[in-house]
Amino acid sequence: MNPRIMALAVAILAAVVAAGGLAFMFLPVMAPNQQQAASSQGPVIGGPFELVDDTGKAVTDEDFRGDFLLVFFGFTHCPDVCPTTLGEIAATLDRLGPQAGRVQPLFISVDPARDTPAGLREYIKAFDPRIVGLTGTPEQIKAVTKDYGVYYAKADGSDGSGGTSDGTYSVNHSSITYLMGPDGAYLRTFSYGTSPEKMAEAIAAQIAESG
Ligand code: NI
Repeated sequence: MNPRIMALAVAILAAVVAAGGLAFMFLPVMAPNQQQAASSQGPVIGGPFELVDDTGKAVTDEDFRGDFLLVFFGFTHCPDVCPTTLGEIAATLDRLGPQAGRVQPLFISVDPARDTPAGLREYIKAFDPRIVGLTGTPEQIKAVTKDYGVYYAKADGSDGSGGTSDGTYSVNHSSITYLMGPDGAYLRTFSYGTSPEKMAEAIAAQIAESG
C-alpha cells in the first residue's frame, strides 16, 4: 500500500474511532433528550383547562385528578350525535357497575353561547346525572378544544349549510370520546358508535392495569 494512502487510512480509522467514542460518551447524556423528542413526536392530547361546571363553579383539569375521564365535546341542541353518545356513555357506566365510581364522564360544550351551566345540567340529567357538563367563555372552549384536537364550527347558514330563518344554528363537531388516566394523561379514544360493551371492556382493562 502506498504510504500516503496508508497514512490517510489510519487517519480516517482514528477519526471514526474517535467519533464512535464521542458518541458513546454523549449517549447517556443525550438519552433523556431523545426520550423527550420521542414523546413529543405524536400530538399531545389533552392538557390543562379552565372551565365552568354545570353548577356554575369554575373548575380546572386538576379538580378531576384521580378519576379516569371520558371526555366528549358537543352541545345541547345537537340533534343526533350528542344524544347518541351521551346515551352510550350512560350505558357504559351501567355496564361498569361499581367500577363506574372510578370514571368521570365530562361533556364539554362547543356552544358556550347557548349552553349555560344550568342548561347543561338539565340536559345531561336525562341521560345520567353522573356525567358532568362543562362550559366556559368562548376563549376557554377554544383553548380546550385545541388541546384535544377537537374540530367545531358554527353552521349558521352563512356557507349554505345549517341555520334557519329564525336565527337558530347548529354546530358541526368531532364525535370522538377520549379516555384520560387518573393523572390526566391521554390513554385512548373511542370512535363514534363504539358499543357500551366495548367501551366498558376497554375501560375496565385500564382500571385493572392501574391496580
Ligand atoms: Ni353533537
